[in-house]
Amino acid sequence: MKFFIDTANLEQIKEAQSLGILDGVTTNPSLMAKEGISGKENILQHYLNICNIVEGPVSAEVISTDYEGMIKEGEELAALHPQIVVKIPIIKDGIKAIKYFSSKSIPTNCTLVFSVGQALLAAKAGATYVSPFIGRLDDISSDGVDLIRKIYEMYDFYGFETQILAASIRHTMHIIQSMEAGADVATCPLSAILGLLKHPLTDSGLETFLKDFNKVNNK
Ligand code: G3P
Repeated sequence: MKFFIDTANLEQIKEAQSLGILDGVTTNPSLMAKEGISGKENILQHYLNICNIVEGPVSAEVISTDYEGMIKEGEELAALHPQIVVKIPIIKDGIKAIKYFSSKSIPTNCTLVFSVGQALLAAKAGATYVSPFIGRLDDISSDGVDLIRKIYEMYDFYGFETQILAASIRHTMHIIQSMEAGADVATCPLSAILGLLKHPLTDSGLETFLKDFNKVNNK
């Protein structure tokens, strides 16, 4: 299972990269705005900065909602750096754009996916990744992880190659449950990745090991 970090914060990306377990980055317009990145040149430069920190795919989202606009933006993003994955919302023109980029072998991430039907269309259009937003489904009393499971079963049954990228992950259990449900990738906040390290028995065990070592070595 691959780990992406879901942020546009360069310090957090560097910290995750330093762990040696980071496979890529996802961003979206809200995450870019959170970092105060605005204006075309600054936005493109920020994507370049991210690509220079990590080795894997970096999802950069289009703002256009019409086919021509998405193609223009997506081609510009893809030309920026070979690690860029063009992130496109699951709307009618988005599906057409994904099909276009797929025919050009430009990787895509189909975003804002909340149903199996949307995931089916993304796969048929040739999306590289499909991003079901599990936290936002949980927010409205729906079962986000169950959607991952259903998409996995459908992709597995029909042999689709689109990778399931569990998104809108809020905490460590979302990561574990997404893994169990068959996600290929989890894109997570840094806090959720670091949360996987935590266990009280690790802390108490380490404390005892060090205490015992010091008893005989630092008399
Ligand atoms: O990857 C999608 C993600 O950024 C959305 O997360 O927490 O805003 O639902 P959230």
